[in-house]
Amino acid sequence: AGVPRIVLLPGDGIGPEVMAAATEVLAAVGTFDLAEHPIGADAIRAYGVPLADRTLAACAEADAVLLGAVGAGAVGAGAVGAGAGAAGSAGAGAPHDAPRPEQGVLDLRSGLGVYANLRPVRTMPGITHLSALRTDRAADVDLVVVRELTGGIYYGPRGDVRDMPGEGVPRPAGDGPARRAVFDTCVYSADEIERVARTAFELARERARPGRPPRVTSVDKANVLTTSRLWREVVQEVADRDFGDVVLDHLLVDTAAMLLVTDPGRFDVILTENMFGDILSDETAAIIGSLGCLASASLTGLGAGGGLFEPVHGSAPDIAGKGVANPVGMILSVALMLRFGLRMAEVANAVEAAVQNALAAGTRTPDLGGDATTTQMTNAIVKSL
Ligand code: NAD
Ligand code: IPM
Ligand code: MN
Repeated sequence: AGVPRIVLLPGDGIGPEVMAAATEVLAAVGTFDLAEHPIGADAIRAYGVPLADRTLAACAEADAVLLGAVGAGAVGAGAVGAGAGAAGSAGAGAPHDAPRPEQGVLDLRSGLGVYANLRPVRTMPGITHLSALRTDRAADVDLVVVRELTGGIYYGPRGDVRDMPGEGVPRPAGDGPARRAVFDTCVYSADEIERVARTAFELARERARPGRPPRVTSVDKANVLTTSRLWREVVQEVADRDFGDVVLDHLLVDTAAMLLVTDPGRFDVILTENMFGDILSDETAAIIGSLGCLASASLTGLGAGGGLFEPVHGSAPDIAGKGVANPVGMILSVALMLRFGLRMAEVANAVEAAVQNALAAGTRTPDLGGDATTTQMTNAIVKSL
């Protein structure tokens, strides 16, 4: 079927550093046709926009897309509304037309239509002592967050309340800073909910083992939000209609956040909407010990092939340029690309095993309590392949 064509989007901060690790691993496992393009602040510098049309077109034509991370930094703690990043990014509460690096990722996800974001979290032998949780709680975790990725509050209408559609909205008069009021909206259609629910149920079936029936926990805020009530209704309908073998339960997101750290072993597939999935998936990093270890796959369905693959972490401005970024999340994203995007499951398994071996053998970057550089960690993984 020819040499797989992969678009590489290194992005900002540690993005290029972990992307270099990914290309080392790819070179070790096969022959790939790699084409690199800018995204995020890098693309704003090159093209004036965080995702150029030609970049999206290249991604759409490729067999799979690998992304490092985007973000110029500076939208940090205490900087709400004043987040002027290197590329002039706007902070929350300061809506204006300056291009934001993160918009590149959002446009890429919607442009590719990758509505199902899989974020696996599995106990990593050899580094269980790094978990923020008690060792007995962190010992047997094997879950996947299935995050709806192209809808919800990330993509709904937003702006100044003075431009807000609809009646009965309190609209502050005047222009003074005390009058600032903005809005974001969360919109979900039944179709959007149904397709990602199907992906979660199908994934649960694939993960079932003797003694472990397929299990999905759907997470929402149905006691407050209309979108969550529709979410719960549609998820239950899909289950009743087509997935009677799957054990389905529903949790409110606040309870789910608590149970993730008190009883993570109770979860198998966690199905949730865009923003809840963003927040809960960073919480799962505490189970493993570092955000730098988590990978993700963004798909147009479980068996569809192709897709977008990126670590869960961001551009980490605090450690960028130091050569110490943990490449594991990126390398495990390569494994997910091999498995789901390119249908090379055996090679994917080998990459995952190599990561486990290198970690167990004690090669660890500073976020894992070691002193290995990104290059040393990558070399250890490549060597154990
Ligand atoms: P972050 O994930 O970049 O960093 C959070 C913390 O984790 C930092 O202390 C960082 O040093 C550490 N960390 C993250 N990845 C690491 C790695 N591979 N190795 C070692 N340590 C690692 O989150 P943030 O600081 O809140 O955000 C920084 C920028 O990244 C923001 O602009 C944000 O929008 C962006 N971001 C982008 C993506 C993406 O591209 N998909 C994801 C998350 C955040
Ligand atoms: C992630 C990131 C992104 C998100 C940002 C950078 C838009 O936090 O991939 O988890 O919120 O989806
Ligand atoms: Mn996130």
